[in-house]
Amino acid sequence: MTVLTIQGLRSGYGRIEVLHDVAVSIERGQIVTLIGANGAGKTTFLKTISGLIRATAGTIEFEGKSIECLPPHKIVGLGLSLVPEGRAVLKRMTVMDNLRMGAFTRSDPDIARDIDAVFDRFPVLAERWNQLAGTLSGGEQQMLAIGRALVARPSLLLLDEPSLGLAPKFVTRIFQTLRDLKSEGKTILLVEQNARQALQVADSAYVLERGKIVLSGSGESLLNTPEVQETYLGQRAARSHGIRIPTFQVDGIA
Ligand SMILES: Nc1ncnc2c1ncn2[C@@H]1O[C@H](COP(=O)(O)OP(=O)(O)O)[C@@H](O)[C@H]1O
Ligand SMILES: [Mg+2]
Repeated sequence: MTVLTIQGLRSGYGRIEVLHDVAVSIERGQIVTLIGANGAGKTTFLKTISGLIRATAGTIEFEGKSIECLPPHKIVGLGLSLVPEGRAVLKRMTVMDNLRMGAFTRSDPDIARDIDAVFDRFPVLAERWNQLAGTLSGGEQQMLAIGRALVARPSLLLLDEPSLGLAPKFVTRIFQTLRDLKSEGKTILLVEQNARQALQVADSAYVLERGKIVLSGSGESLLNTPEVQETYLGQRAARSHGIRIPTFQVDGIA
C-alpha cells in the first residue's frame, strides 16, 4: 500500500522556486531515501511535506488524504512526523519535557508508555531524563529528536540528515535505529548527504539535483549506478584524501 504520493510538487521561498515538478512515492514499511548535495532542496522538500512551507503546485497525498493545504499540527496529528535538520531539540528544556512536547497533538492516556518505549530504545536518555537537552552530545540530541518524533506515534517518519556532524559511532547507531524502526513496521523517508549509508539502508531512493529528481531506483541499484558512484560516493572518498574532483553532471539521466 502506498503511504505517500507526491506529484508535480513545486515549492520555494517567495518568488524563488526551489523544487521543480518533484514526484516521489513511498510504500508502507519501506525506507525511502532522497539524496542530494548541499543546497539541492532536500530540507525544502521535507518542510513542504510537513506543511511548514506551502507548495505552489502539485499534490501531496498521505494515506489517501490530500495534505498540501493543511497546517503543520494537523499533518502531525494525521501521523506524519519530522525530525528536523540540526536536531532542533529545545536545549533549555529537560530530556523528559522535550519528549512530552512530542505528544502535543495527543490527548490519549498512553503517552507515558510511549515515552518509556523511547527510554527503552535509547537508555542513555533514561539516565539523563532530568538533564537539560543542551547538555547532551550531538548524537544524544539526535536520539532525543528521533524519540520526540516517535512520541507523536507517526506512521511515516521524516528525517532530515540525521547523521550530519555526528561521530562515527553515533552515525552507526542512528542507521541501526532506522533499521530497527523498519523491522517494527514504521515507514521512513530519509534525507541524507551521507549517500552510501542511506542507499545501503534504503528500499528505494531518489537523487535530487538543483530541485529536480534526476535518478531513482532501488537503494542497491543506485549504489551500483556509475553516475551516483562518481558524484555521491567517489567524491566523498576523494575528498577524504584531499583530492578535488569536479562535480559530475547527471542531469538528463532520469
Ligand atoms: N529560508 C530560505 N529563504 C530563501 N532561500 C532559501 C531558504 N532556505 C533555503 N533556501 C535556498 O533553497 C535552496 C535549497 O535549500 P535546502 O532545501 O536547504 O537544501 P538542502 O537541504 O538540500 O541543503 C538553496 O539554494 C537555499 O539557498
Ligand atoms: Mg538541508
